[in-house]
Amino acid sequence: MPESTLMSERVQAVLKRLYRNAEAVDAAALARTNPVTDALAGDEKVRVRSEMLGEAYLSVPPDVGRLLYILARAHPSNTIVEFGTALAISTIHFAAAVRDRGEGKVITTEINAEKARRAGGASPGGRLAGLCRDSRGRRARNFTEP
Ligand SMILES: C[S@@+](CC[C@H](N)C(=O)[O-])C[C@H]1O[C@@H](n2cnc3c(N)ncnc32)[C@H](O)[C@@H]1O
Repeated sequence: MPESTLMSERVQAVLKRLYRNAEAVDAAALARTNPVTDALAGDEKVRVRSEMLGEAYLSVPPDVGRLLYILARAHPSNTIVEFGTALAISTIHFAAAVRDRGEGKVITTEINAEKARRAGGASPGGRLAGLCRDSRGRRARNFTEP
């Protein structure tokens, strides 16, 4: 991949930290949740999994993140809309693509208020944050200094 915001030392350091956290948090959360929800079905299963996995990242893996970056950077559309920020791993890939395109924005939404709050701490120095908006068009104010 040519030189890019995504592969910069700063962004890679943030992603490395997030993926390391995700590995630890998700493994424990899934180990707790799966035995409970395996026996459930339908809306109840969705509800209980959503509650029990509230702290989990469940993010795109690194190779899928890089694919998202490439697709977003190459696509002619200027606006990327993401449903499900979680803890911003995918959002960082999109924002890096927008920065390297030189124009555009990312609109990202997260239904879980605590995750939306925590996602702010994930952005590398807030530099990519300026490219992100919430679904009402407000600057994603939670994307501040890590
Ligand atoms: C698989 S995770 C997203 C992972 C994230 N895109 C990444 O790769 O880092 C799905 C997220 O969608 C959120 N979610 C579920 N329903 C939603 C909705 N209706 N609107 C916004 N977010 C939603 C969940 O709270 C969860 O954090």
